[in-house]
Amino acid sequence: MNKALEGIRVVDMTHVQAGPVCTQLLAWMGADVVKIEPPGRGDVTRTQLRDIPGVDSLYFTMLNCNKRSLTLNLKTDEGKQVFEELLRRSDVLVENFAPGAMDRLGFTWERVHEINPRLIFASLKGFGPGRLEHAKAYEPIAQATGGSMSTTGYDDGPPTVTGAQIGDSGNAVHLFGAICAALYQRTNTGRGQRVQIAMRDGILNLCRVKLRDQQRLARGPLPEYPNKEFGEAVPRSGNASGGGQPGWALRCKGGGPNDYLYVVIQPQVWEPLARKIGRADLLENPEYATPESRLPHIWEIFAMVEEWTVTKDKWEAFRELNEIDVPCGPVLDSKDLLDDPDLRESGMIVELEHPERGTFRTVGCPFTLSDSPVEVTRSPLLGEHTSEILRELLDFPEQELDRLASVGAV
Ligand SMILES: CC(C)(COP(=O)(O)OP(=O)(O)OC[C@H]1O[C@@H](n2cnc3c(N)ncnc32)[C@H](O)[C@@H]1OP(=O)(O)O)[C@@H](O)C(=O)NCCC(=O)NCCS
Repeated sequence: MNKALEGIRVVDMTHVQAGPVCTQLLAWMGADVVKIEPPGRGDVTRTQLRDIPGVDSLYFTMLNCNKRSLTLNLKTDEGKQVFEELLRRSDVLVENFAPGAMDRLGFTWERVHEINPRLIFASLKGFGPGRLEHAKAYEPIAQATGGSMSTTGYDDGPPTVTGAQIGDSGNAVHLFGAICAALYQRTNTGRGQRVQIAMRDGILNLCRVKLRDQQRLARGPLPEYPNKEFGEAVPRSGNASGGGQPGWALRCKGGGPNDYLYVVIQPQVWEPLARKIGRADLLENPEYATPESRLPHIWEIFAMVEEWTVTKDKWEAFRELNEIDVPCGPVLDSKDLLDDPDLRESGMIVELEHPERGTFRTVGCPFTLSDSPVEVTRSPLLGEHTSEILRELLDFPEQELDRLASVGAV
């Protein structure tokens, strides 16, 4: 066995971002992921945000590596029959269509469980039961309703979405974990089960510390926040660390939009940091002696550290502060990251050949398993594996393929 999920077949009925990122992780762990797409059209992202006319977009190619593509029209009887046959020979079904779409196609949990009792049926929706249950959802909607937008940005600005796609790609990771757990449980029970996640619930999990602060707020202001006044709910707090140690993004030499170093002031590094920035005098001052006594002065302290960081570029400042063990990190932009030699070397940024677009770069698997190496391969063209899957996987004779094509089922 060369891969963690070798021997597991996934019927991938996902589209857009959240579902495809989850099934891409399953594929990287060695599962055979068969992506089902409507004939002639495919996943909507194939044509969204295209940078080269007529060629699968980066949106699609970066989210659908290591999969096979089977076109299947599930609104035809023949398409449904092929789908059922595939479910019988698979281990996991994953989908993220709008609420009710799978039921309308005739594939309720009860029906799927009847077709194959060992199959795990995983769904991602915007919301769980309640007022929002039947609503469609995209990333920012999940962030808006899950507590992320109201706590992101600055106090004097509007609610803001994060750059990281926590509703989509973040929840893809939750769903991946849930599916792996269900697969593990099946090894004992022999039964498949229903796995469900709501994007909003995943965001709540990621906003856990903001709900911690909401309950602290009932007992008084939050001293580590930069905000001067507090209302009833946790305010947007700019670049505050969110943890128990104060942190902030400090300007560095260069003056560019990302010439910043994020610095966290841990109690154990206060003394070397004060010396490094030329403020050893503060070490004699009782008002700066403990983390608690420093907290009311924290913005004044960050301003002093910034007086030092603006004299260095972000990498220089990073190196010098690392030498004295101060936790810090340079703010890197997307260009820096795509070109980063360490990330290229580690396999986090991968270069792939695509038959239509040529060479492109994508983001690799964010974790490694020593016994399950990941080899990233390009995304499939629309329907690239249709006849291979029908013939080899489902044992359909050649003339049946022609018939399915003639009725528009594949
Ligand atoms: C993302 C989302 C808003 C997109 O909405 P949409 O583009 O209107 O697409 P929907 O999911 O509503 O519908 C897809 C339709 O295609 C149909 N379809 C999908 N695959 C098909 C296939 N292979 N053959 C035939 N029909 C197919 C579905 O049956 C559905 O038809 P219906 O509306 O008649 O029931 C919606 O899917 C959603 O809310 N998903 C859950 C949350 C989510 O994943 N959000 C985004 C994550 S990036």
